[in-house]
Amino acid sequence: MRIGILTSGGDCPGLNAVIRGAVLKGIQINGQEFVGFRDGWRGVVEDDLVPLGRKDIQGISKQGGTILGTSRTNPFEGEKGGVDNIAAMMERRGIDAIVAIGGEGTLAAAKRLTDAGLKIVGVPKTVDNDLGATDYTFGFDTAVQIAVDAMDRLRTTGESHSRCMVAEVMGRHVGWIALHSGMAAGAHAILIPEQATSIEQLAEWVKSAYDRGRAPLVVVAEGFVPDHENDAHSERGLDAFGRPRLGGIGERLAPMIEEATGIETRATTLGHIQRGGTPSAYDRVLATRLGMAASDSVNEGRWGRMVALRGTDIVHVSFEEALGSLKVVPQERYDEAAILFG
Ligand code: F6P
Repeated sequence: MRIGILTSGGDCPGLNAVIRGAVLKGIQINGQEFVGFRDGWRGVVEDDLVPLGRKDIQGISKQGGTILGTSRTNPFEGEKGGVDNIAAMMERRGIDAIVAIGGEGTLAAAKRLTDAGLKIVGVPKTVDNDLGATDYTFGFDTAVQIAVDAMDRLRTTGESHSRCMVAEVMGRHVGWIALHSGMAAGAHAILIPEQATSIEQLAEWVKSAYDRGRAPLVVVAEGFVPDHENDAHSERGLDAFGRPRLGGIGERLAPMIEEATGIETRATTLGHIQRGGTPSAYDRVLATRLGMAASDSVNEGRWGRMVALRGTDIVHVSFEEALGSLKVVPQERYDEAAILFG
């Protein structure tokens, strides 16, 4: 079988390890051949392919980003998009199946194409760790470690100046990165989109830490909206791709904390640093296993299914299930972390 691999949506550490795992298992065990689509679905609709042989994937699992490039192209848009054009390209190029590595948007497109008869398997990707059908996504562990390293540094400068430090981390819809990095770094408050938290409550946590002689550390997920800012995201407008602009909540919180507590406060937005650089060992192993499982899925003809992690096992779930629910931080996990704030 000849397989086309693509990486689509926002990048995340571990994408190259998935590619390497799939190609090595495919070549060595499953008798498969590979090509890569450049820049996600853009490469599919524009017939932009690169060879993916053994030497192309040598040593790449430790590299951040994706050797194939990525984009947020919708494969149904434009005159070259749509099922018929994609099917014709696959026929012309002798491609039997596609391995699509991506998040919700990518998997939704993969589902539509599979429903129309194309042979596609999925690999979950999101640094936010918010896909319901898999216990963890690669990239998350690396992002958390990067955030914790940054927070450890924020704490020493915060302590020197007796300041409150606010660290804004990624998390468009959910607060997993904030929860894990905040717990690991010993945060005095964690603010996540799933949990309404008033400025009064935040001020209480900050003051209590300060009164105990600590430099308060507040961790906030980018998707958190304070009570009085319910329409903040819509006010900040859409980006060129129609997605709400996020970011900046840390900078907006700092003066609110100063006003409510009288404690000098500084904010740092970690942003895309969390998605860059070398993947952690955990993410490399998870990504490699998912890549190998995707090669097996193609071999077994599991079209319309995504490989996923359950406990320590790699399992197969339907695209419906994969898209079914956002994995939010459960109340009990938040409450557990909040015990540590006071
Ligand atoms: O979905 C993953 C994510 O990293 C979000 O946490 C963040 O809001 C978004 O991607 C940023 O996307 P972009 O790379 O388009 O700025």
